[in-house]
Parts: sequence; C-alpha cells; structure tokens
Amino acid sequence: MADFDNIVILTGAGISAESGIDTFRSAGGLWEQHRIEDVATPEGFARNPDLVLGFYDARREALSKVGPNPAHTALARLEREFSGNLLLVTQNVDDLHERGGCSQVLHMHGELKSALCTSCEVRSPWDAPMSQRPACPVCQAPTLRPDVVWFGEMPYQMERIYTALSQCDLFVSIGTSGAVYPAAGFVQEARGHGAETLELNLEPSEGSHFFSQARYGKAGELVPAWVDELLKA
Ligand code: OAD
Repeated sequence: MADFDNIVILTGAGISAESGIDTFRSAGGLWEQHRIEDVATPEGFARNPDLVLGFYDARREALSKVGPNPAHTALARLEREFSGNLLLVTQNVDDLHERGGCSQVLHMHGELKSALCTSCEVRSPWDAPMSQRPACPVCQAPTLRPDVVWFGEMPYQMERIYTALSQCDLFVSIGTSGAVYPAAGFVQEARGHGAETLELNLEPSEGSHFFSQARYGKAGELVPAWVDELLKA
C-alpha cells in the first residue's frame, strides 16, 4: 500500500454490528422496527416526545451491554501509531470508538451519551434515561433531548470535515450503506480533490462505484488487516 500523509476515515453502523448493535437498513434493522419519521425527526419529537425519549433511552441502555470489537481497537492503534494526520469521522452515536481506545472522534450525527437542552442549547455528558424529564445540569429546565442529529437537521462540524476531505490523500469508508447524505457524498468530495478512496464493507454500498478500491467482508477482520498493512508500508 502506498504512503499516505492525510487520511480521513468515515465509519457507519456496520463497524459496530459485530459488537451486537443493530444496523439501520439490514433485514430486521432499526428502520424496519421503527419509522424514521417517528423517532428520528424534530417533527416526530414534537408529536410524541415520550416515544422518542424512550427509543433513545433503550438504545443507550443497550449500549451499556456491549463492547468494542477488533475493528474499533484497530482504528485506535492506527490513531496511536500513524505518523500523518488522521481524522476519524463517525455517523455512529455509540461510544465504541472511544471505548476501543480512540481519543479523537468526530461524531457528525451526535452521541447517545450526550444531552442537548432545548432551553439553554448547551450539550452535557449524559448517561441516564431522559423519559422522566430530568433537569438540565446547566439551566435546570426539564427540557433535555438526545444530542443526536435527526433527519432535517445539520450534522456537526461539516466545515472541519470538508476541509479535511479537501486535503486528504486517502479516504476510507467503513461499514456504511452510503444511503444518507451528506456523509454519502464524502467519497466524491475526496476523489474530486485527488484522494485515493477505499471501501471496507460487508457488501458493495450504494456508492461503491465511486471508490477506487474495495474489500468486502466483516469489519472485525478487514479493518485490523488493513491497519496492519498501512502501518507496515
Ligand atoms: P446502515 O444500516 O445504512 O448500513 C450499514 C452498512 O454496514 C451496510 O452497508 C452493511 O452491509 C454494512 N455491514 C453490516 N454488518 C457489517 C460488518 N460486520 N462489517 C462490515 N460492514 C457491515 O448504517 P449507516 O450507513 O451507518 O443517521 O447509516 C447512516 C445513517 O442512517 C445513520 O447514521 C443514521 C441512519 O438513519 C441518522 O439517524 C441521522
């Protein structure tokens, strides 16, 4: 594998699948069990806050029962040992990258373990249910919502991500279906700036034809092997 100086990695639900977290679009996945309009839009939250808070309470609870897998720990090794610039962007709201040992993770779709107060707009670390309407630790109003980006809302830190994409020489997409923009467009952005592009996924994603290279299989096997190769090059 060639030498790279600036790498951007995008991860999706597939990297956490082997840890036991449901993906969204697989058979029996989250979006077959729940309607996106009900649990992942501001309108759904306004209509039925109990349903939405309960949905994310259950996902936060489920998160406490699983742990990182070899794909997460391999990316942590890359973060420690790679001598160039690395930006790890995840669409995942779980904290398995962090628990796998990564210290710099950009959560573009927010985090389950963070609360956003709709009164004071401050984000606070959060690891408890929200259904009982607890007080915001900052302003005390009982107006917390999950700090998760819903459909129709702007993902976090897009400027920083596009700057990194314009400067990277390698873009790697891991465990994402390529169904949701803007993340699905990152490969074209990076390619447009001359980067090599690599997909690591169980199967070809919706945008697989945009990648210059692809490897198909389980993230828990593909990612450690790829990190090994990259660090040896
Ligand atoms: P998806 O559920 O859409 O896609 C998961 C991808 O991971 C699929 O392409 C699977 O083939 C692949 N996959 C499954 N198991 C895998 C494994 N063991 N190893 C490698 N790949 C595997 O999840 P995302 O692409 O992350 O957004 O979904 C993107 C966004 O859509 C999410 O962040 C969420 C969702 O709606 C919001 O809620 C805003």
